[in-house]
Amino acid sequence: MQSKKNILVTGGAGFIGSHLIKLLVNKYPQYRIICFDKLTYAGNLENLTEVETAENYTFVKGDISSEENVAKVFHEEEVTDVIHLAAESHVDRSISNPSQFIETNVLGTTTLLNEAKKSWSSVENLFYHVSTDEVFGSLGKEGFFNEETSYDPKSPYSASKAASDHIVRAYGHTFGLSYVISNCSNNYGANQFPEKLIPLVVNNIKNSKPIPLYGTGDNIRDWLWVGDHVRAIDEIFHKGKRGETYCVGGENEWSNLDLVKLLIHLTDKHLDRKEGSSLGLIKFVTDRAGHDFRYAVNSRKLMEELSWKPSLTPEEGMSQTVSWYMENTEWMSRVTNGIYMDYYHKQYLKR
Ligand code: NAD
Ligand code: TYD
Repeated sequence: MQSKKNILVTGGAGFIGSHLIKLLVNKYPQYRIICFDKLTYAGNLENLTEVETAENYTFVKGDISSEENVAKVFHEEEVTDVIHLAAESHVDRSISNPSQFIETNVLGTTTLLNEAKKSWSSVENLFYHVSTDEVFGSLGKEGFFNEETSYDPKSPYSASKAASDHIVRAYGHTFGLSYVISNCSNNYGANQFPEKLIPLVVNNIKNSKPIPLYGTGDNIRDWLWVGDHVRAIDEIFHKGKRGETYCVGGENEWSNLDLVKLLIHLTDKHLDRKEGSSLGLIKFVTDRAGHDFRYAVNSRKLMEELSWKPSLTPEEGMSQTVSWYMENTEWMSRVTNGIYMDYYHKQYLKR
């Protein structure tokens, strides 16, 4: 039996946060799970309807960059632990508006850390920072990131996440705050906002709209099913060594072009279209500025120390994901509203 905890999950209404909250609420009825989220364009309470009436779940609307909001939730909810996911998370947006990423990811993380430092006196209280492998920069065709890799972030997004990783470690070193950090590769699955490659592509195939591929389509990403990432977070939160870092990856590398072809195959099949009939939708567009070539992660430490491994094969994961988007067209229509269309036009119209 685990001890009583009041866990603040920041960014809990986003893609990964909502999957994590559903896991924690169902698996740990003795914990109180507080979703703390500003509900930006990426936050969606519809992702959490399944748990909204659970007795051990509460939603608090708030901004991690507001000292007042953060102090209030810590005191009213008697927060014992933080799993910090709230962030601006999209690289393209960080290119068009870097300052917002510094404000949320750097200053917001610092605001949370200051409150944790003020409110907590025990090493039992844990600050868990959920971070990205993009802090390590870009790989060539060979090699993998691991816990020893030097930081070399290249985009305003990854630089802001790198800064927040460093600040978390500095609070651990200087003030004795208990922390863990995980750096994970690209996630995919249900409820991902369709600015990210996979839901954007599936939605465009369904609507017979052009599929924008940046540059040559040769850039490589390692994809992990979101359900496996939140299982890793659960393991690391409970059993990870305090003051350490864990790399999380899917051992599932795809060039963007090959991945898009797989998504076309799966989506066309789902829609009973002729095999490959959507291949003509692929449109090579101007490359992303500073586009990182390849990410790949060695998760051996997590596998050996905490016995974690991905539960789904890439084929199972991608197939389930495509089916989810095909079966949840109302979710997609609601998130691709006017605000999304303004973003979409600005991002792609002149490419
Ligand atoms: P997301 O963009 O889907 O969700 C972010 C959430 O944070 C949203 O609910 C949003 O409303 C909330 N938020 C933003 N600013 C806030 C603020 N100032 N105060 C409170 N809430 C705020 O992101 P995601 O893909 O779920 O990623 C979650 C975390 O995991 C991020 O920290 C990201 O860097 C990290 N991560 C993501 C991936 C990935 O592939 N998506 C991979 C590795 C790590
Ligand atoms: P994305 O989902 O934005 O994740 P990240 O940039 O954090 O890796 O993009 C994944 C890959 O797909 C990346 O190499 C950029 C590319 N991409 C496209 O080619 N077209 C698109 O419309 C998008 C959104 C991404």
